[in-house]
Amino acid sequence: TYENSPAPGDPADAQDPRPASADASGSITDWGAPAPSDRQSLRAGQDGPIVLHDAHFVNQMAHFDRERVPERVVHAKGSGAFGTFQVTGDVSRWTRAAVFQPGTTTEMLARFSTVAGEMGSPDTWRDPRGFALKFYTSEGNYDLVGNNTPIFFIRDAMKFPHFIRSQKRRGASGLRDNQMQWDFWTMNPESAHQVTYLMGDRGIPRTYRHMNGYGSHTYMWINEAGEKFWVKYHFHSQQGVEGMTGDQATQVAGEDADVHRRDLFEAIERGDFPRWTLSVQVIPFEEGFTYGTNIFDVTKTVSHADYPLHEVGVMTLDRNPENFFAQIEQAAFDPSATVPGIGLSPDTMLLGRVFSYADTHRHRIGPNYLQLPVNRPRTAGHTYTYDGPMAYDHSGDAATYAANTQGTPYSDGTGPAEDSFPVSGDLVRRAQTVRSAEDDNFTQPGILVREVFDDAQRERFVDTVAGHLLGGVHGEVLERAFDYWKAVDAEIGARIEAAVRAGQAADNPGGEADDAKAHAQQGATDADG
Ligand code: HEM
Repeated sequence: TYENSPAPGDPADAQDPRPASADASGSITDWGAPAPSDRQSLRAGQDGPIVLHDAHFVNQMAHFDRERVPERVVHAKGSGAFGTFQVTGDVSRWTRAAVFQPGTTTEMLARFSTVAGEMGSPDTWRDPRGFALKFYTSEGNYDLVGNNTPIFFIRDAMKFPHFIRSQKRRGASGLRDNQMQWDFWTMNPESAHQVTYLMGDRGIPRTYRHMNGYGSHTYMWINEAGEKFWVKYHFHSQQGVEGMTGDQATQVAGEDADVHRRDLFEAIERGDFPRWTLSVQVIPFEEGFTYGTNIFDVTKTVSHADYPLHEVGVMTLDRNPENFFAQIEQAAFDPSATVPGIGLSPDTMLLGRVFSYADTHRHRIGPNYLQLPVNRPRTAGHTYTYDGPMAYDHSGDAATYAANTQGTPYSDGTGPAEDSFPVSGDLVRRAQTVRSAEDDNFTQPGILVREVFDDAQRERFVDTVAGHLLGGVHGEVLERAFDYWKAVDAEIGARIEAAVRAGQAADNPGGEADDAKAHAQQGATDADG
């Protein structure tokens, strides 16, 4: 027993009895032979060193040393579940994609996440939430990798690594830093719409079940006749949309950093399956190029009065992962994974993403990540990708080259791509063009603050922004932040400035400018804590 000291000469682990649950038949080694022991390593005699030829021990240790894959460079903390997408509407006049045809039910996977936090970071940090979906359709995987907001911070993929670094950690201290965040945002004022969203009540969802999802970008749909349309995806939570205040979120972060992961898993476990209704806005193809808001600019929403929602179907999450690592950590979503009847658009952000995801998966998981059960398509056929690390699928002695006379199938498409769009002129370095006076950086966030938020929401919004700015933002960046909010809305900007000045005065009753103190605070707060 644990109480008794071992007798002199007994090994110390005589105190450590074999647990009653150990299977008498024992475990096996990774090469399938009976494992000699999962509890004692092999030593060269009593009190001697361990030996290198204890192959089972060496394998266990070496494999453990490699047990993690790198965390996602963004969206590292997340949770997921499996379910189905059931078509309830009829959108066949706009797309021929099998997944959206009337009466179709498709197996799927969803993963929700925060963006900037690391794998163990609290679920309740203020941040957009990822809303990544994989439909295992009869025509191949369709991945729709969106967020819980209909817009994004930037409109050119070139800026994405810079944006993300400004939200992550400082080089020297390893701390997150509000100064850095506001430096980026105010130097890139197209962020104003998304930052307004982020600092509002939707900036921290109550659970993953209580948030909407959006495709955010404009995508293309193609119907049976080859006609093209632009669409924007909206997944409305049937649980309702509910948020948390910054104070609640800070408290919950300390009590249960995994609160949203727990909520999703437990809801599904008890049979309370979360559901979202998918609707789309449909924009005629030609109109898409002339409409007053640039529909290919992901910092903008498109008016529902001009383009109302059409119901497509319902997504139900009803199955938890059996293994988090295999099915959620190794899940790989690719905006590049489209199927017939669905295409991309000239949104430069989207086109940049189309490169980035498959590239990061080849690094994070390995070049054959699409062979893993969670990622593999449910369709069969011949591909011309071969071998590489951890290749599992193979095609026997089929021809490895196209064209061939051996009967190994190959594709031979010519002519315009089904999902093409017109391009003209020289190569240019620029993001989307501004289409009208309202198509600027500040009109839509101004409308959000003035017309969508009510008085109480505006009050909380001013408190949240001011609190965030008081978390170490100083000097020129602080002044730029006041200008940024005044450009969104003069009154809100003035209220934010007044609240920050009042907060500074309360912190510094002497009244002297105190940049040194602000510097000392730098990094002391995360995005809203
Ligand atoms: C994850 C790149 C913009 C939604 C990721 C990952 C990368 C990335 C490299 C990590 C993927 C992994 O390791 O599995 C980019 C680039 C962007 C961009 C380069 C802009 C040019 C966006 C936008 C959205 C979005 C606009 C939403 C509309 C997501 C989601 C995930 C993710 C939901 C997590 C996927 C998962 O759950 O595994 N992004 N991203 N990203 N991104 Fe983006």
